[in-house]
Amino acid sequence: MRNLSIMLTPTISFFCIFFLLYHITVDSSTPYRYIAADNILVDCGSSSKSTGNDDRDWIGDIGSKFFPSEEDNLKSNTFQVPKEGVVNKAPFTTARISYSEFTYVFPVTDGPKFVRLHFHPASYSGYEGSKDFFTVKSGSFTLLRNFSASVLAGSLQEKSFFKEFCISVEKKLNLTFIPFSTDFYAFINGIEIVSMPKNLYYSSQEGQSEEKVPVYVGQFTPFYIDYTRALEMVCRLNVGGGLIRPTEDTGFFRKWSPDTEYYKSQGIIPINASFTPNYSKIMNYTAPDIIYWSTMSQGKNKDKNLQSNLTWELPVDLGFYYLVRLHFCEIDTGISYAGERRFGIYIDYQTAEADADVMSWTHEKRYTPIYKDYVVMMKNKGVDGEKQQIFSIDLHPRSDSLARDAFLNGMEVFKLSDSDGNLAGPNEILPSLPAAPTTKESKTKKTIFIAIGSGVGFLVVLTSVCCMVLWKLSKSRRYGSYHPLSKYWCWGDPYKGKSARTKASSLPDEVCRNFSLDDIRIATNNFNEELIIGRGGFGNVYKGLIDDGTMAVAIKRLNPESRQGAREFKTEIEMLSQLRHGHLVSLIGYSNDGGEMVLVYEYMPNGTLSEHLFNTKNDPLTWKQRLDICIGAASGLHYLHTCMKNPVIHRDVKATNILLDDKMGAKVSDFGLSKMGLNQTAVSTVVKGTLGYLDPDYARRNQVTDKSDVYSFGVVLFEVLCGRKALDQKFGQEQLHLANWARKCIEKGTIYEIIDPYLKGKIAPECFKVFVEVAENCVRDQGIERPTMNDVMERLEFALELQQNADATQEEINPRGDFTYQEVLSFRASGRTTGARAGAPQHNNNVYNIGPVVESDTSYPSLDSESVTVTSRDVFTENSNITT
Ligand SMILES: *[C@@H]1O[C@H](CO)[C@@H](O)[C@H](O)[C@H]1NC(C)=O
Ligand SMILES: *[C@@H]1O[C@H](CO)[C@@H](O)[C@H](O)[C@H]1NC(C)=O
Ligand SMILES: *[C@@H]1O[C@H](CO)[C@@H](O)[C@H](O)[C@H]1NC(C)=O
Ligand SMILES: *[C@@H]1O[C@H](CO)[C@@H](O)[C@H](O)[C@H]1NC(C)=O
Repeated sequence: MRNLSIMLTPTISFFCIFFLLYHITVDSSTPYRYIAADNILVDCGSSSKSTGNDDRDWIGDIGSKFFPSEEDNLKSNTFQVPKEGVVNKAPFTTARISYSEFTYVFPVTDGPKFVRLHFHPASYSGYEGSKDFFTVKSGSFTLLRNFSASVLAGSLQEKSFFKEFCISVEKKLNLTFIPFSTDFYAFINGIEIVSMPKNLYYSSQEGQSEEKVPVYVGQFTPFYIDYTRALEMVCRLNVGGGLIRPTEDTGFFRKWSPDTEYYKSQGIIPINASFTPNYSKIMNYTAPDIIYWSTMSQGKNKDKNLQSNLTWELPVDLGFYYLVRLHFCEIDTGISYAGERRFGIYIDYQTAEADADVMSWTHEKRYTPIYKDYVVMMKNKGVDGEKQQIFSIDLHPRSDSLARDAFLNGMEVFKLSDSDGNLAGPNEILPSLPAAPTTKESKTKKTIFIAIGSGVGFLVVLTSVCCMVLWKLSKSRRYGSYHPLSKYWCWGDPYKGKSARTKASSLPDEVCRNFSLDDIRIATNNFNEELIIGRGGFGNVYKGLIDDGTMAVAIKRLNPESRQGAREFKTEIEMLSQLRHGHLVSLIGYSNDGGEMVLVYEYMPNGTLSEHLFNTKNDPLTWKQRLDICIGAASGLHYLHTCMKNPVIHRDVKATNILLDDKMGAKVSDFGLSKMGLNQTAVSTVVKGTLGYLDPDYARRNQVTDKSDVYSFGVVLFEVLCGRKALDQKFGQEQLHLANWARKCIEKGTIYEIIDPYLKGKIAPECFKVFVEVAENCVRDQGIERPTMNDVMERLEFALELQQNADATQEEINPRGDFTYQEVLSFRASGRTTGARAGAPQHNNNVYNIGPVVESDTSYPSLDSESVTVTSRDVFTENSNITT
């Protein structure tokens, strides 16, 4: 029992620190926060305070108490990093660079810290002929040795990256940068120091509960990690989920990456759910909630599961201990008791846990996060003299358990320093340096490789680059999926070819559930009219509850007339269920019993975008919300266009097909009209789509391409900006068709006059310009003049960034937040993307004021009765001969 006075002191100091650091550490949107006593962000080579990409404040080292001391007085220079296309922000606008040693000394509290070194290699004038090769030490630890940031950045194909270490210190934390020799220089752009609780990753013999101490794999003895060791983060993964940005972490500003690059199994699908975890077994700051929301598991096919492993692989340096932390949280409502789902855990081909049983660890409580730590020594098993090797983490279901399915939610891997305090790989001779091989193919983001190549000699770096390239080539890439409820998305690569995750699964019931008609009747109260949330040409959409009423879903019951044959239905399900992305409404299952055809989708509590834009009872969406929604939807469409070898074209992009989840995150729904594109310009037999959104090029040529979706999306962008429907009788003939009218207004310079009145004064002019420009480019007449969805997504993100920067500046001036932006009085979109002619676009193909509507189809769960779909080419006969 503690007495009151002991309690008070920490409480008071807690509050002091809390208020001091409030603006740095607390993001009001994330309540689960550890308040770090030290939270230092130093922008090296800068003399001022500036805000970084994630809105955290960086302090310039010049003139601060962190100004580095140097071996040779003031040999180091500071540099303005050359500006590139993208907006560079702290700490990547300046660098400290020197041919001689320099040391930063940080006064800090006692205890373990995260130390993150941020590098942005660039050509610094005066240093052209020489190379960056240097060692970084902290006290007795060697963090990096003969390390070259430019070589690593080249192999990562990243402009900038960081390396993260954990070090425990007393009072002072020193960081010394030592160039390899006088011909080489050392540099650093940013240093981040964040305190962590004593037992987050370290463990000591005293007072540590045995179950939290890592198990030494192979020996089954506890392996204590005390302060004599430094750790280097190798990877930190949100398994089955998307990127979690540092600001979304629990106060440690850790970055959690998608596991796409490491994941090696096939045919496995992530399960997504959202819930508030029950932190009865571990501290609530151990990992952000969202890592438990996505799970990789093997699926329902028990026999097949027994023949395979859930496998992740990563390259490691030999001769070091590695700490592997596996995060679990049982979220499958089908598992209720200890023993039902058990599996073995193998690390580096050794048994780490013969009988892992998460439900038993959590005392049969679901939604209870827990983690297990393992330490393994990386011994050379292959060729003599190898310095690196791929190591593997395998989960294998036990045949004597009921579920025969393994799963994982998160994974962290650290390299431990050796007995000399060294973390750098074994050193090699320094060869002459060709540039690191870079594949031109794509500007892909390979954050994972940051993890490796840690401060090793150049040859090792070079070898590892080759290894990496080979390793990469040997596996197919998957899309870094976005977590539905996270604010951010992952800019993962489009796949080349099918994804590993979906490739093997051609049988629907592995990928999505097959419900019996009884299940569906129970879920919808026998198709009760009151549960209808949408009606359309395909059939009604019901809100239903499955899994004993614990999960809300949207159930689409196809009309008898729109039902295809059972085989087509199955084919469609197979295709649909392969399309999984955080910005697509996911298909949970289907039913085709008793002549019914039923699709079960995830339920989107906030309905359609359209319901939030037009004559709505809902609060108007803020400009930022609108931008987020557009970016999300764009990324969903981008995925459709790139996830397979041939683009999957949506064909009916519209505001009623963009649904909103409980956090107002956007998901594209109803790919019912999508067909696999046969090739880039597949010729289809009927024109499908919705009036007002229809690509004139498509209507003319009857050729559907991914650019048709881009056109429709451009119309959505104008709807979002103007709060007007794509086709609105209310405004009279001239203004009937929003896209055409908006283009005229842009020509006349009056576009600002027709924006949603609610948005007036709320859009930063620079953001407005970018947004209008994107929208205008999307609705260009010719498909080839339009940007790709990827361009659209990037430009919209840029627009959001501009808005956030402008808001931040305004908030500084007007902390009460009652500012308005000036109107953009005269504005014409400029900066044509492709070979578009300057001047008026042509409007010779107004196909919208014609014709009988053949079939009306509002899609799930659309309530927008005014939107109509045309499915007959007859409508276009007048215009279809305009083409080529
Ligand atoms: C996390 O745990 C701390 C300490 O146990 C507690 O004070 C805090 O309220 C918890 N936060 C949440 C959001 O549960
Ligand atoms: C850190 O640097 C300071 C000043 O250069 C020095 O006095 C101190 O001994 C150093 N501490 C360690 C642990 O190296
Ligand atoms: C699963 O992994 C273990 C340990 O790494 C290995 O021994 C076993 O052969 C693997 N099984 C399959 C089916 O790949
Ligand atoms: C860098 O590598 C070279 C070549 O292996 C080695 O001789 C030298 O000691 C290393 N430098 C440092 C500071 O470790």
